[in-house]
Amino acid sequence: MDQRFEFLRRSSCRVVVARGAATQLPALLAELDLDGVVVLHDATIGELAQQIAALVGARAALPLPDGEAKKTLPILGELAARLRQHGATRRTALLSLGGGSTSDLVGFLAAVFLRGVPFVACPTTTLAACDAAIGGKTGVDHGGLKNELGTIRQPDLVLTDTDWLTTLPDALWREGFVEVIKKAAVLDAANFAQLETLAPKLRQRVPEAAAATIAMAIAMKLTVVQADETERDRRAWLNFGHTLGHALESLADGALRHGECVARGMLAECRAAQVAQTITERLERALHSLGVDTAWPERFRQPDAIWALASKDKKAAAGNVPMIVPNALGHGERVTLARADLARALS
Ligand SMILES: NC(=O)c1ccc[n+]([C@@H]2O[C@H](COP(=O)([O-])OP(=O)(O)OC[C@H]3O[C@@H](n4cnc5c(N)ncnc54)[C@H](O)[C@@H]3O)[C@@H](O)[C@H]2O)c1
Ligand SMILES: [Zn+2]
Repeated sequence: MDQRFEFLRRSSCRVVVARGAATQLPALLAELDLDGVVVLHDATIGELAQQIAALVGARAALPLPDGEAKKTLPILGELAARLRQHGATRRTALLSLGGGSTSDLVGFLAAVFLRGVPFVACPTTTLAACDAAIGGKTGVDHGGLKNELGTIRQPDLVLTDTDWLTTLPDALWREGFVEVIKKAAVLDAANFAQLETLAPKLRQRVPEAAAATIAMAIAMKLTVVQADETERDRRAWLNFGHTLGHALESLADGALRHGECVARGMLAECRAAQVAQTITERLERALHSLGVDTAWPERFRQPDAIWALASKDKKAAAGNVPMIVPNALGHGERVTLARADLARALS
């Protein structure tokens, strides 16, 4: 026999964003036809997790180590054992409550536990709400590599209650919105203009501005992901600012947050690629209105080190460093970063 069989796995993801949206959880979960829910949450938001667990009548609320430290295979294995102890079955939903590290880990667990159980993401950081919990990428760090083991599998439901975000420190609050400015800069001019208006309100932490921005971010990201779920082409556009941003993040070794690096990375990539000054200036102004510092720190102006890190990035092939930059606001273009352009970029 020599015959090819085609398979098309269909999936859909419901997305809800609103102030007070938590109250909708019981009804939305009921629609998923579940055999119970287990809440897995960042340990730092234990009180909120207890409230959510009570609201949805969860079988258990399992705390996870804070931040990136939770994204490991041993923890994945321990959690599978805990799920068994709580009688989880193939229709028991895993509800992640926390930042992007929580949705990455719990999404992966939901994809592999009993070969896949329902997954509900409840992001509590702006980065998770605007980006990490959306699009289906999940995973854990392994062998010293971030996200080395993972899957692409859409959550059944992503629900964000902007009231959950009120406890975030300012730096974390701004972080997700930097990624929204990034998306709009290469994908959607009208959204970029709207963000220029929203940015000062975001800086003042106006909840309605946050809900509008998160909804915009999700719509932009999911439109791209729908067209290119496995990152063959268009999904790579979302990497604007991340080639030099990641290099800076590695060099800073924990001294700068991801969003702070992406903000600087976007402007540096624009300068390196000689993007029109009007575009770079509007981008910089929007970031400043949000309250983000965009100056490349003096101590990290190290073109050799940045080049070495950028060309080592997994997206770089054969010493060519590809990047996406806006060639008009709302429109990205693939360009190649040259070593010679780096000194100007970091100025
Ligand atoms: N899957 C994707 O597509 C994707 C995209 C971008 C980033 N990511 C991943 O997301 C992670 C980063 O996400 P993150 O920035 O949310 O980090 P995080 O999950 O580490 O959370 C940051 C911090 O915020 C705290 N926190 C969470 N909610 C809070 C709240 N409501 N109030 C106060 N503190 C709160 C956490 O305890 C943690 O210390 C990384 O692991 C990254 O790899 C994934
Ligand atoms: Zn990012």
